[in-house]
Amino acid sequence: MYSKKLTENVKKELENLKQAGKFKSEREIEGAQGAEVVLNGKKVLMFASNNYLGLANHPEIEKAAKDAIDKYGFGLSSVRFISGTQKLHKELEKKLAEFLGTEDSILYSTNFMSNLGFFATIVNDETLRGLENSDASGHIDAIYSDELNHASIIDAFKLCKKENVIKRIYPHGDLATLEKMLEEDRISPPAGGYRFKFIVTDGVFSMEGYLANLPEIKKLADKYEALLFVDDAHAVGVMGKTGAGTPEHFGLHGQIDVLSGTFGKALGGAVGGYVAGRKEIIELMRQKSRTYLFSNAVPPSVVVASSKALDLLKKSKELLQKVKENTKYFRDGAKKLGFDVLDGEHPIVPVMLGDAKTTQEMSKKLLEKGLFVVGLWFPVVPEGKARLRFQVSAAHSREHLDRALAILASVGKEMGILR
Ligand SMILES: Cc1ncc(COP(=O)(O)O)c(C=O)c1O
Repeated sequence: MYSKKLTENVKKELENLKQAGKFKSEREIEGAQGAEVVLNGKKVLMFASNNYLGLANHPEIEKAAKDAIDKYGFGLSSVRFISGTQKLHKELEKKLAEFLGTEDSILYSTNFMSNLGFFATIVNDETLRGLENSDASGHIDAIYSDELNHASIIDAFKLCKKENVIKRIYPHGDLATLEKMLEEDRISPPAGGYRFKFIVTDGVFSMEGYLANLPEIKKLADKYEALLFVDDAHAVGVMGKTGAGTPEHFGLHGQIDVLSGTFGKALGGAVGGYVAGRKEIIELMRQKSRTYLFSNAVPPSVVVASSKALDLLKKSKELLQKVKENTKYFRDGAKKLGFDVLDGEHPIVPVMLGDAKTTQEMSKKLLEKGLFVVGLWFPVVPEGKARLRFQVSAAHSREHLDRALAILASVGKEMGILR
């Protein structure tokens, strides 16, 4: 029986993952996400979620979701183009576009889906050849992508037909190499030339919290006539003076060709992704993008509560300010204790430990003392660069931050990392 063989092989692979220390055990939270969560009946401090603004269990967001269920029901049992579009979806798409400074936007079930949808649709579409070479058969696009871009971008490229695309992966943040690649392709393009060029980057890289150098990347995109695509999942709701993300942070609000992002992190933390950009591009996604067309509509409670998240951001900058202040306080505090902390402005605060085993042991000990933080080691980050990745939230009070620092200090001393 094939199923028996498959099961046996799967068992072996799961065992291999355990042996290699790569098996992921899920910690089961009881109750809501927040500054503190309950784990195995015990309250612990949460420093491992993307709940940057503390909206995941914000009373106004929760109320908006509950009211929406009463008014609009639970689910839509349909994809958008059949019977799954409510006025609410359109309103959120309009509001989001205004917030991001783009002409239009389109909702997907997740950001993973929106990234898959965007690239597969454009790169594979033979009809987008344009009149100037409408006789030519086939086409080749060029994609230039940072090596640390999110898994959903890497998988999006896998959905692009090989014969239609040349993928160029540049070392993380290395814009000199990116320019060299663009220049090489300008001097010696394939026969018939490239149809479209795309430069693709995360706005914030989640392993270090570093920001992409958008001003320089944009200059290259302009110079080499490439479309600039920024996945701003970790930045939207966090960076920039209104929370509109890395473009706003760098003074480039409304100047990026295409943005993608999520409502699943700072903006309420449920689910829901998007692509935002020129209205024609968004309309093409609506017409042809398979991860949009053939996947269910985002449920009304999520749409209304996500929309409320944007309203809260617009109404008050308090949460944005608070997450900034908390991040600075925590980063400075961890540095003062003597830890090797990566510099930055984003609420992702990596404490570098180097060794994978030390990191595994330390995250376990921290949890025992009431601090939930994620440890990252090879192959998720480069060998020898294991770290604890703290994520600070506006929901943290000064007391939470001080308590987390005190636990960090005590475990650091106990393990001989701090003197
Ligand atoms: C840069 C980036 N893009 C996309 C995603 C996927 O977002 P979603 O959870 O909405 O699918 C993530 C989430 O981890 C991310 O960090």
